[in-house]
Amino acid sequence: MSVEKAKRIRELLDRNDALLVAHYYQRDEIVEVADLVGDSLELARNASGNPRSLVVFCGVGFMGQSVKILSPQKRVIMPRLACCSMARMIDSSYYDESIKLMESYGIKKEDIFPITYINSNAEVKAKVGEMGGVVCTSANASKIFEYAKSHNKKIFFLPDRCLGLNLAQRHSIPSAVLGVSSKEEVLRAEIICYDGFCSVHQLFSVEDIEFYRAKFPDILIATHPECPPEVVAKSDFVGSTSQIINFVNSLEPTQRVAVGTEFNLVNRLRKPVNGVNYTFVLSSTKPECPTMNETTLDDIINVLEAYERGEPYNEINLDSNISALAKRALDKMMELSK
Ligand code: 13P
Ligand code: SF4
Repeated sequence: MSVEKAKRIRELLDRNDALLVAHYYQRDEIVEVADLVGDSLELARNASGNPRSLVVFCGVGFMGQSVKILSPQKRVIMPRLACCSMARMIDSSYYDESIKLMESYGIKKEDIFPITYINSNAEVKAKVGEMGGVVCTSANASKIFEYAKSHNKKIFFLPDRCLGLNLAQRHSIPSAVLGVSSKEEVLRAEIICYDGFCSVHQLFSVEDIEFYRAKFPDILIATHPECPPEVVAKSDFVGSTSQIINFVNSLEPTQRVAVGTEFNLVNRLRKPVNGVNYTFVLSSTKPECPTMNETTLDDIINVLEAYERGEPYNEINLDSNISALAKRALDKMMELSK
């Protein structure tokens, strides 16, 4: 990391009462300079709860939006308005179409309980909040699912079909994917998933797991729940980015582990022991999230300098009605995640 750039960023942050926040998938130099690093849940909670008035968010759009929704009095700027490709797979019109399709199958709207993964935009969260639903992250999905289940309705899980199907697998309940499964399967399902996915986590396969297990019989497999269900079923540990980090750090330094999540995180996990590497990326293709990798130290300097000059750009501003409805679904998640 450039020491001069880091020093400049620190000066700008302090002068502007700003907090620098970064997701674990950001480049190393960003993670090193950030005040706060974490998974989606930790970042939403800790950035919105921090006393600094300005949040500089290095991540993808839905993450910055979540902080703004939870703490509307704060100003939130993003060095890059990078967008998660999964979040882009659904907007409010696709949401409405999905509800209509379920209604055409005979499922009443009032019998649907929506859960949106935090990887979705504010308009979609607002739709979910309006219907009394909740947001979840990879860290609390099971808890939110239990809450949703207590309503005795059909759960509509969006946009990540993998996370939804993995929840169904874990809780042994019938599931379906809207637009892919038959009407009968949808009617039988307790959890109906929208057909979205993360292109990065689709790179991990059962063949990768078999390859590593054949090479190192003692190896452990740790994956993110955005991975396909057949991969998650064969994993020794499944969790959010923070949970994966804690799991790997709890292992003996010479315990081999192959990790199925974004490259920057895996690459930082553990140093080799006596020149031998015990931590592997669970894929022969580099699992890099292109949008997470966009942000640079120069972007942080530029966005802060413009803010200081009174010419802010990439600021998160949301329609107040959308924000209020989305807040219902996010606040409920926060309450349930205490
Ligand atoms: P986490 O909430 O586990 O950090 O995941 C965010 C994400 O986008 C994973 O691809
Ligand atoms: Fe979105 Fe996948 Fe990137 Fe996570 S890794 S931010 S889900 S595209």
